[in-house]
Amino acid sequence: MFPSVALLTLSCLAVAYGQQVGTLTAESHPKITVQKCSASKSCSTEQHSVVLDSNWRWLHSTSGSNNCYTGNTWDTSLCPDPTTCAKNCALDGADYSGTYGITTSGNALTLKFVTHGPYSTNIGSRVYLMDTSDSKYQIFNLKNQEFTFDVDMSQLPCGLNGALYFVEMDADGGTSRFSGNKAGAKYGTGYCDTQCPHDIKFINGEANILGWTPSPNDTNAGSGQYGTCCNEMDIWEANSQGAAVTPHVCSVQGQTRCSGNDCGDGDNRYGGICDKDGCDFNSWRMGDQTFLGTGKTVDTSKKFTVVTQFLTSNNSTSGTLSEIRRLYVQNGKVIANSKTNISGMSNYDSITDAFCNAQKTAFGDNNSFERLGGLNVMGQSFDKGMVLVMSIWDDHAARMLWLDSDYPLDKDASQPGVSRGPCPTSSGNPPDVESQSPGATVIYSNIKYGPIGSTY
Ligand SMILES: *[C@@H]1O[C@H](CO)[C@@H](O)[C@H](O)[C@H]1NC(C)=O
Ligand SMILES: *[C@@H]1O[C@H](CO)[C@@H](O)[C@H](O)[C@H]1NC(C)=O
Ligand SMILES: *[C@@H]1O[C@H](CO)[C@@H](O)[C@H](O)[C@H]1NC(C)=O
Ligand SMILES: *[C@@H]1O[C@H](CO)[C@@H](O)[C@H](O)[C@H]1NC(C)=O
Ligand SMILES: *[C@@H]1O[C@H](CO)[C@@H](O)[C@H](O)[C@H]1NC(C)=O
Repeated sequence: MFPSVALLTLSCLAVAYGQQVGTLTAESHPKITVQKCSASKSCSTEQHSVVLDSNWRWLHSTSGSNNCYTGNTWDTSLCPDPTTCAKNCALDGADYSGTYGITTSGNALTLKFVTHGPYSTNIGSRVYLMDTSDSKYQIFNLKNQEFTFDVDMSQLPCGLNGALYFVEMDADGGTSRFSGNKAGAKYGTGYCDTQCPHDIKFINGEANILGWTPSPNDTNAGSGQYGTCCNEMDIWEANSQGAAVTPHVCSVQGQTRCSGNDCGDGDNRYGGICDKDGCDFNSWRMGDQTFLGTGKTVDTSKKFTVVTQFLTSNNSTSGTLSEIRRLYVQNGKVIANSKTNISGMSNYDSITDAFCNAQKTAFGDNNSFERLGGLNVMGQSFDKGMVLVMSIWDDHAARMLWLDSDYPLDKDASQPGVSRGPCPTSSGNPPDVESQSPGATVIYSNIKYGPIGSTY
């Protein structure tokens, strides 16, 4: 993702969430099937489930039901300091459909944008795929493999982002490394990404209350002194008007808490430990405005299949990640990715280090992706193992203009790389999208993974 805040601006529920386990609502993960495929193209069905991120959950006192956090402020008596807060406060179970608009059926997951629940209005959500034992996050190593899913984005307008991606979270949510975290993966703890988000309420088993500042324009979010960083592979950040596939890397391995300059905040965007821009392939931005969208070659008014292949230098899992290829399937037809059509660039149709270097040069962007190691480092992250994230969100920092419109707004839209999609530069304001498109929805289904060529 592109803007200075991006994923961390997910709006959260107006109720509270700790790091102990609450018992007022039983936690029951919605079930979803996933197919694991083999080279012979035969696939077996695995039973998995999804878990809601802890940041969305009600956080209340372990001894009762007093909120530890309300709206975007902490209760100072339950939370006088980071460790006491983690001891005093419990994350409770979630009513997935009633409160959060999250449902599953067979191999499909539906995420609804705005949900009016009995106690509150929820905006957006973020879930993780659990392993088949339902005790930890499923860990993926996709080197020399492909990952495939179907998506229905027909109900996802400008300003929204239906995102499916991988981050290098701990499989247990952080319980074994951080004794203050008793809740773990079952309650969706331990999130991190390359934006090093500061809006995460608990990091490393402690409440992120030091320096906490409520957001000026998001009644459900704030930011603390610490951020939480890790490598990120954005398979799909998209709405009905456009899509991007984007690897991002960091100079650190595994979930890492940052403070100060390391977080790369504000003007220090390129001085932190993670590459916030990433190396994105967005067909519109790469010069083909006819490829993906409503009624286009890949028609976003209907469901389609997204295939992403992670090729290595020697066609083996142990090789160096060398290329990320994309193709689509719709109406039974395989559709090759669009080709780059930018003056000064070759006709790249996949992400390689050569593509990233050429793109950053053509667009005049800072090449933090290659400076921090490029595709090789992205591959090392898969060696360690990555967690699958699926979310729907709106963007309080940059209105998603970096995905579907012109960005940044202070540059001429005719300069290469500035135009990223057809949405108006006035679109994507969270109060507008929340009031005008509360029923916006994304459906991810038919997830498959396996050797190259095995899933479609
Ligand atoms: C990119 O950012 C880094 C860190 O701030 C800086 O050292 C470097 O000079 C920048 N490169 C360009 C081409 O602006
Ligand atoms: C390639 O770019 C040129 C110039 O911007 C444009 O006229 C042409 O339509 C583009 N081709 C495709 C396939 O998008
Ligand atoms: C890897 O596989 C591709 C496609 O099958 C082939 O073109 C390439 O030569 C192989 N590379 C190596 C190093 O075996
Ligand atoms: C692939 O490359 C890796 C890293 O260079 C090496 O360790 C491994 O033995 C190679 N595997 C094959 C099958 O060539
Ligand atoms: C919301 O506030 C942040 C500062 O926290 C600012 O960067 C952002 O531009 C604001 N967003 C909107 C849509 O006004």
